[in-house]
Amino acid sequence: MVFVLKIFLDTANLDSIKKYNDMGLVDGITTNPTLLSKENSGDPEEIMGEIVRLVHGPVSLEVISTEYEGMLGEGRRLSKFGKNVVVKIPMLPEGLKAVRTLHNEGIKTNVTLIFSANQALLAAKSGASYVSPFIGRLDDVGQVGMDVVRDTVAIFKNYSFDCEVLVASVRHPLHVIEAGKIGAGVVTLPPEVLGKMMSHPLTDIGLARFLEDWKKTKSSQKVTVSR
Ligand code: G3P
Repeated sequence: MVFVLKIFLDTANLDSIKKYNDMGLVDGITTNPTLLSKENSGDPEEIMGEIVRLVHGPVSLEVISTEYEGMLGEGRRLSKFGKNVVVKIPMLPEGLKAVRTLHNEGIKTNVTLIFSANQALLAAKSGASYVSPFIGRLDDVGQVGMDVVRDTVAIFKNYSFDCEVLVASVRHPLHVIEAGKIGAGVVTLPPEVLGKMMSHPLTDIGLARFLEDWKKTKSSQKVTVSR
């Protein structure tokens, strides 16, 4: 079995999704109410539908309800957006009950707002397909977010849980390197972090020097670059 670190985009911005999708970098998408609220030009329902159409991989769409029946109803409705929908459920006792029911109905779930390995363990036991530890928010309050990822990956490996650790609240490229070293299944990245991962000042300096030096050669007189 080949393991790859899957890259999801943590955004509801269609332009960013198209941009990185065209590069073949987008394995999936995670959204949440905050991310959808930033896309003030569109109806959230339409945006969610468009994302599900654009991306072939898993797309997490989050419920707003916080009680069992409400989460269940929303989850069932969201799952109809497409086969690749993963219903995002908050880490609550009622949430885990909804996860179990949706799991029994064949609907995948991603349990969000995970801040400890024990929460992740319980979500996986309830039948979640993904658990989302929010590492940046833990770092913000002086706890090492990546420790939760490390512990969760170790526990899931020991007991062969069929649940992926989806590293969320990623703030910078070093988080991605750490997640990869630990062996997490997925990182979900704000587009800015993905942009930072692919650029390096020495790449820009090196390219500028190559182009300058080319101008000094005889060939540069003959070769024209078509755009
Ligand atoms: O996927 C979770 C993410 O959107 C939360 O990130 O930066 O608000 O902690 P952040």
